[in-house]
Formats: sequence, structure tokens, C-alpha cells
Amino acid sequence: MEVRQVLHMNNGEGETSYAKNSNIQRKIISMTNSRLKKAILNIMCNNNNNKNVPESIGVADLGCSSGPNTLMVVSEIIDIIDETSRKSGISFPELRISLNDLPGNDFNDIFRSLPSFFIKLKKKKVQKIAMLLEFLVHFMEGFFHKRACILFTLHLVYIGSLRSVPLGLGTNNVMSSLNKGKLYISHTSPSDVINAYVSQFQNDFSTFLRSRSPEIVPGGRMLLSLMGRSSIDPTIEDGCYYQWELLANALSNLVSKDQVEEEKIDSFNAPYYAPCPEEVKIAVENEGSFMIDRIETFEIEWDASVSSNSSDEKILLSTGQQVAKTIRAVVESMVENHFGNEIMDDLFSVYGDLVDDYIYKKRAVYVNLVVSLKRKEY
Ligand SMILES: C[S@@+](CC[C@H](N)C(=O)[O-])C[C@H]1O[C@@H](n2cnc3c(N)ncnc32)[C@H](O)[C@@H]1O
Repeated sequence: MEVRQVLHMNNGEGETSYAKNSNIQRKIISMTNSRLKKAILNIMCNNNNNKNVPESIGVADLGCSSGPNTLMVVSEIIDIIDETSRKSGISFPELRISLNDLPGNDFNDIFRSLPSFFIKLKKKKVQKIAMLLEFLVHFMEGFFHKRACILFTLHLVYIGSLRSVPLGLGTNNVMSSLNKGKLYISHTSPSDVINAYVSQFQNDFSTFLRSRSPEIVPGGRMLLSLMGRSSIDPTIEDGCYYQWELLANALSNLVSKDQVEEEKIDSFNAPYYAPCPEEVKIAVENEGSFMIDRIETFEIEWDASVSSNSSDEKILLSTGQQVAKTIRAVVESMVENHFGNEIMDDLFSVYGDLVDDYIYKKRAVYVNLVVSLKRKEY
């Protein structure tokens, strides 16, 4: 089955849902706020005497997901536009907002949350916005390696993650079982596997940029917030590398209990790649439609979203088990599709124990890349 058909964050509002386990992504969104401000300032004020200020601004959040974070980026953008308009004496522009995700995303949840979002907008000190704003929420069940929006309508695109699986590593082909006992690139991975991941990233990223290029107005901005790595070598323990390593170990533990077949681990290849800044730079330059404004690297602890509030029921769980819930909310749909639903509780319980052991010994951090791009003007 294609990645787009099986991939989605855990839907609903239950214990394992993305809605209940996405605090870490929320922190990551806050970390991009200063870049969003800079991008909006460039869109609204980068001209002489407030001439050519766009009367209508097109914004797209690609990979909006569902849950409390979904409208957070949009909300921040509205606040920044409001502040910028006031400071520069410009009227608040018409805003056209597109939210995009894969078909499995819980779009109904977003629709349910819209009324309270509009009430919040009205209650804010920026009440003026709610009156002046023509707010078009445009849902597209899109796959963002294809065209998603109308030609030259977007001024600002925000994107929170990209997925892809190397074609040569899909199941049922010669390459599929080369990465013995692993789910992602590891220090034991043969060079064919590493090369397949690297070249798939370059292809996918390039296709992604090529698909966005005709949608964004010349001079428009795109902000990407991606899980990445700092080291050039993808086999070095860095960023999310060890999360996949521990998940492979958890699955091997279930092999020893006859709950999982070993070959199943060999044939699973995570639809994921954590690039380093140099790889992003090469892909952007090769594709040619965008200029790099800035690439920043942030570290965020695996347990940054772990609760220490004693009235919170999560406190009953170990740090590792809480981290495991965060990961489960993101990867369960694809892991379950390959290994079966019946092992999911055991898998993520073993995984949580392994995370506890790991963070006891090492400082475990995600590496997040924030990439600010400008659409070239010619
Ligand atoms: C980690 S979630 C982030 C969600 C939200 N922006 C946040 O910060 O909480 C990434 C989202 O991007 C979507 N996504 C990833 N790759 C995609 C693709 N190629 N096309 C469309 N959506 C994709 C996923 O379905 C998921 O909802």
C-alpha cells in the first residue's frame, strides 16, 4: 500500500491520539515563531512607503494534522499579521487559509474545532480581525508532492514534516530486506540502503519544491520545520536516529516472544528521512525556484513534553512511557499496517522501557531544522 494511504497521526481524542500526545510538536511550533514573524514582515512591509502591500494574503499549512496544534500556526500568523498591520498603519488584509494533510487525517476534528476557534478570534484583543477578516478555510486532502493550490495564490507556506520511503526499499522487491533487523538507517545498514534513503530524500524534496514553486507568488515565503540531524553522516547517533533503533530493538524483543516474525522487521523501512542542513541546501539549490534565507538547527529533549504536574494522570507513567506515547501517536498507523494491530500495546510498552534505559545513560535530543525560503522573483 502507498505511504499516503496508511500514514496519518493517531486520530480521535483517546489516550494514544495525536491530539493528546503532541505537546512536543507544539513546542517546536513555538520555536519557529520568530521566523514566521520575519517572513510575514517581509511579505507585508518589504516595499516602499507601504505601496504594493498585498490586500489579500494566501497562507497554507501543509501537514496541519488534527488536534490542538492544527490551528496554532494559523493563530500565530493572524496575531503576527495583526501586530504588523497596526505597527505599520496598514489595514488588516483579507486572509485565505488552506489547511492540507493526507487523506487519513481527521478532518472532521478540524471542522468541529472551527466554531471555538472563531469565538477565540473574536474575544482576542484583535477583535478587529474577526470583523475585517474574510476567512476562507480551504481543506485539501492533499499529498504535498503534487500541486495542492491554485497558481500563484500563496504568500506564505508553513510545513511541519515530510515523509517518504525509498522506492527501492518498499516491500516485495530485491532491496526490501537488505536492512537486517533495522527500520531506518543504522550503523549496520549496507551502503545500498543508505544511498537509497539519501537519493529518495533528494528526489522527494526536489519534487516537493517543484510542486510548491508555481503556487507561491514571486517573493513569497516558505517555512519548513523538519526533524533533521546535525551531522553529515546519517549513520551517526543523532536526532531521531536512535528512536528508530530502539523501536527495532523493541520489535526484536517481541520476536523472542514469538509475537513478531524477524523477516517482518527486515522488510519494514521507515517512510522518513532526517536530513542535515547541507542536504537541504543542496536540494534547494539544485531545484532552483527558491533562495535560502536561513537554516537553523534546534535541539529539543525527547522528554521536553513530559509532565511533571502531580495532578496529571500522566505522572503515573515513567518518562520513557510518556515519550513512547508521543512516538506512538505519530508512527502507529504505519507500524500497525505492517506488523498488525494486536502487538501495538506490547510494542510501545517495551519501547517505553527501552527509552527509560536510554535516557538514563544518554542525553537524548531531537534535532529540528527550521528552513526559511524565499520564492525567486523571476
Ligand atoms: C508531525 S505531524 C505535524 C502536525 C502539525 N503541523 C503539528 O505541528 O502538530 C506532520 C503532518 O504532516 C503530514 N504529512 C507528512 N508528509 C506528508 C505528505 N507527503 N503529504 C501530505 N501530508 C503529509 C502528516 O500526515 C502529519 O499530519
